[in-house]
Amino acid sequence: MIIKLFHKDEVYSPTQQIDEYTVLNVIGEGRYGICYLVCDNKKQYILKQLKKGMLKNNWTKADYEEKILTNVRHESIPGFIKKIENKKFFGYVLEYKEGKTFEELIFTENYIWGRKEIYRIGIQIINILKYLHGKNIVHRDIRIPNTLYDGNRVNLIDFGLARWIDNKRYTVDVDFSYLGDFLLHLYYTSFEIKDNKKKAWYEELDLYRNELLFLKRLMGIEERYKSIYDVERDFLKIRCTKLSSPIAGNLE
Ligand SMILES: Nc1ncnc2c1ncn2[C@@H]1O[C@H](COP(=O)(O)OP(=O)(O)O)[C@@H](O)[C@H]1O
Ligand SMILES: [Mg+2]
Repeated sequence: MIIKLFHKDEVYSPTQQIDEYTVLNVIGEGRYGICYLVCDNKKQYILKQLKKGMLKNNWTKADYEEKILTNVRHESIPGFIKKIENKKFFGYVLEYKEGKTFEELIFTENYIWGRKEIYRIGIQIINILKYLHGKNIVHRDIRIPNTLYDGNRVNLIDFGLARWIDNKRYTVDVDFSYLGDFLLHLYYTSFEIKDNKKKAWYEELDLYRNELLFLKRLMGIEERYKSIYDVERDFLKIRCTKLSSPIAGNLE
């Protein structure tokens, strides 16, 4: 089998060639692989190299990202271009998506999101989840390093943990709790500490009553949502009523 031929994980530097692609930059190194920004003579792409250790121990797992991405076609999800598999290299080429990760925007650029923008971002993720869950796919890793934002559009990347929903081990609610946690990161960007007492998010954030219930249901503190359509319905309700009423201070 091809994976036995790997000796080490060669890390490629700018100007080096991988298959028909030229490396422009190393973008990130995670648990499972190294991501490069590359180009052919026309366009930029992301090349995701999978680590040798990952292939040895998790061969079938490594397959999911390819299998799932080749089954989806959505403007906010990178298209799968091709797999590169040879003696020295295993990885795949993905469509390059614009934007910075929310992790970068929050922790490096100290970006602060207001409610209006949080709602615009939230509804986009809900729409992506409607598409994925409708195709029987659960992403399982909707986090700030795996979401890109260009000030307008949200892109969801990193399908390394995505699986087919089987309603046993792989269920939709993991996406709901990650969505809740993701939204909390955005709410916290405008949070100002008033005292030094350690409090839970639902005690210290200024949230409207139905916004609080929505987040608690996402996180499984109150009765969990069963479907993305229920999530969407409640989120749209919050958005409609709250955008026409006064913001923070006297939340009801
Ligand atoms: N399709 C893409 N378009 C733009 N940037 C990407 C894309 N895929 C990955 N990246 C960048 O590379 C980083 C790591 O990619 P990711 O798929 O999350 O790999 P890992 O499995 O190592 O977490 C991301 O945080 C993002 O900055
Ligand atoms: Mg990632």
